[in-house]
Amino acid sequence: MPLPFQHLLSTKQLQRADTEEILRVASSMENVLTKGGSELLKGKILASLFYEPSTRTRLSFETAMQRLGGNIITAEGIQFSSMYKGETLEDTMRMISQYADIVAMRHPEQGSAEIAARACGVPFINAGDGPGQHPTQALLDLFTIQKECGKIDDLCIAMVGDLRYGRTVHSLSYLLGLYKNIRLILVSPTELTMPEKVTSFLREKSIPFVETKDLAAGLRADVMYVTRVQQERFADRNEYERLKLQYILTGEMVRGRNVLVMHPLPRVGEIAPDVDLLPNAAYFRQAGNGVPIRMALLAMLLGKA
Ligand code: NCD
Repeated sequence: MPLPFQHLLSTKQLQRADTEEILRVASSMENVLTKGGSELLKGKILASLFYEPSTRTRLSFETAMQRLGGNIITAEGIQFSSMYKGETLEDTMRMISQYADIVAMRHPEQGSAEIAARACGVPFINAGDGPGQHPTQALLDLFTIQKECGKIDDLCIAMVGDLRYGRTVHSLSYLLGLYKNIRLILVSPTELTMPEKVTSFLREKSIPFVETKDLAAGLRADVMYVTRVQQERFADRNEYERLKLQYILTGEMVRGRNVLVMHPLPRVGEIAPDVDLLPNAAYFRQAGNGVPIRMALLAMLLGKA
């Protein structure tokens, strides 16, 4: 089944049938990976444009393209690109569309993905637009939940940390809205609560949620999704320093509990290293799931799945 859109900008575009299909194709991509890859996208070129730092997202997109036999062209850091000379995002996209068959872009400004996609003549994937959305991360998060918990419906999910600026929790909340009997526990300091646009969506979908400052409340969930305080979004450095490590999850808190611990990474102290040794720690497996999910998306958007 082809996806009913050309560009992936936000998880709000997706219906449950779409997420199920993407997860199904991602599972089949895991089989492709065990065979060492395929030539499905031979001759295709991915433009990998990262105007904001990235390790996992970028490397897993590039791995995904190469495992499917495709090629990559890249640009990174606005200071190294012609945007630095004043070129508009739209002009960059008009030009890139003539070089590449598909584009993945990360950019520091919220809404930049939409502007770029409008000028892009080939499929476009938002790899993170400032504090806005990060749809491919949310899809790999969903894939991880399905693999680790055996289901997505009927789960209680705690989101912890910077819910205000963390784009991954925004995108994931919209996706969870497609599933049945989901309950959310939103744990954050008052300054970093979930934006109104997301909480009003949850109310609209009748998803029960509680907002709390208490990390212990989140430990009773099936899944605890921990996030980093997004330093780069703070205008005031002191405000970041004050809020950065309000929550530190330790092995002692998690040991013996049924809670699955996830994190989009990078972590910068909010999960102590002693959690890594526990079976609850899913975050490195989660990062690995980025490859089959992005293989699935590249193949589907290029009409090759
Ligand atoms: C996240 C992002 O870039 O939003 N990282 C990622 O893509 N794995 C989370 C973060 O940077 O905190």
